[in-house]
Amino acid sequence: MVESYSKNANHNMRRPVVKEEVVEFMRTRQAQNTGYLKELEEFARRENIPIIPHETVAFFRLLMQTLQPKHILEVGTAIGFSALLMAENSTEAQITTIDRNEEMIGFAKDNFAKYDSRGQIELLEGEAMDLLPELPDDHYDFVFMDSAKSKYIVFLPEVLKKVKVGGLIVLDDIFQGGDVTRDMKEVRRGQRTIYKGLHRLFDATLTHPGLTASLVSMSDGLLLLRKNEKNLRLDSDII
Ligand SMILES: C[S@@+](CC[C@H](N)C(=O)[O-])C[C@H]1O[C@@H](n2cnc3c(N)ncnc32)[C@H](O)[C@@H]1O
Repeated sequence: MVESYSKNANHNMRRPVVKEEVVEFMRTRQAQNTGYLKELEEFARRENIPIIPHETVAFFRLLMQTLQPKHILEVGTAIGFSALLMAENSTEAQITTIDRNEEMIGFAKDNFAKYDSRGQIELLEGEAMDLLPELPDDHYDFVFMDSAKSKYIVFLPEVLKKVKVGGLIVLDDIFQGGDVTRDMKEVRRGQRTIYKGLHRLFDATLTHPGLTASLVSMSDGLLLLRKNEKNLRLDSDII
């Protein structure tokens, strides 16, 4: 029994931002996971652990096989599912993944010991904001940000230092079931910190000349950012 996530957690995973029948089609018609990835995916769904949904799995397979990144950074490991998926589909990559939840760290360690057969993955335990500054600058080709959504805008300036020019940053769950399109007064009070954080993220990135940005309506929304220039700075009035 997993304690970190209750049955009512992950509310937005049940509020798809595209038609439910299209989501169902994407989840059932694209190649399914096999072996240990299938086992981990089923375990996470059973225990309400918020790993990436199947349409994002298919997208990540394509991205990894095509881009073949050498250095990957992930913020938000959970049980290690997405890190192992990336390792499986980019076999030359070294992956650094960060998490602060002790229960998740326990699962991730076990899963990496069993399934990271090429020794590609390094797990850093702790608060992302404490660990990010210690990582090398201009190093990563690919970053997956899948942690607390209100903090994306707080982490992003540090993450941008760590990414190479031409590198890609993918941020997950940025539509919050469509809440971001509404007036803040219509959003539940408990969700407003996330709402404000995401709007600061959009303001800082979507039209920034040093970034190429694309919003993708997949799962609960992905924001893709390409870093186009070295020493890129976000507007200090926004961040
Ligand atoms: C959505 S889950 C990650 C799922 C994983 N990427 C996957 O798809 O298999 C988010 C994880 O981020 C971690 N997390 C959230 N905020 C964090 C922070 N500030 N620093 C470190 N880890 C954080 C949580 O503990 C949780 O395990």
